[in-house]
Amino acid sequence: MDLFDAIHSRVTIRTFTGKKIPKNDLEKIVDAGRAAPSAVNRQLWDFVIVTEKKTLDDILHHFSAGRKYNTHEDGKFDGCSAIIAVVLSETNEYWKEDGSSATVNMLLAARALGWGSCWIEGGLRPHEDHFKEILDVPREKRMLLMIALGEPVKWSPPPQKKSLSEILHWEKY
Ligand SMILES: Cc1cc2nc3c(=O)[nH]c(=O)nc-3n(C[C@H](O)[C@H](O)[C@H](O)COP(=O)(O)O)c2cc1C
Repeated sequence: MDLFDAIHSRVTIRTFTGKKIPKNDLEKIVDAGRAAPSAVNRQLWDFVIVTEKKTLDDILHHFSAGRKYNTHEDGKFDGCSAIIAVVLSETNEYWKEDGSSATVNMLLAARALGWGSCWIEGGLRPHEDHFKEILDVPREKRMLLMIALGEPVKWSPPPQKKSLSEILHWEKY
């Protein structure tokens, strides 16, 4: 898939069919994250891929009563077949930027490979310590976010985005 097609057709997916994602695709997705820019090229990130059903259930049941995050679906993650946890260290002053940078690459890679994804950050925060424990993430690290992945039950059109003319300023604000 062309990069611009992936950018413009990527949409947050929160309901999946349960189809298994091949290991090779999951590695390709993390490999795309690995190639992302990071401050001073420090690459102070780790990625945990979770595919075991028991662990997925253990994590995902925390969202079953999830608040509404977008305009067209509830945030339940039914049928999610993999999660990628994005782990960084707060000692890196750019930890959030670095983690977000890798994440966008991974969301686009997932789209290009035909998988749906959801960036889970707000929903993760109240449970971060629990998730770190489940995944054996060292206590001194932070889990910035998780990416839920799977085959979409349906590809919804992306939600309305602001038009270019609303947000683009040439030369001066
Ligand atoms: C920083 C950040 C945090 C987010 N946290 C959550 C979350 O906890 N749960 C969730 O379902 N979606 C979450 N999302 C996904 C957004 O709701 C989604 O990207 C937004 O509604 C725009 O939709 P789109 O991704 O389809 O363009 C998050 C996105 C970002 C960038």
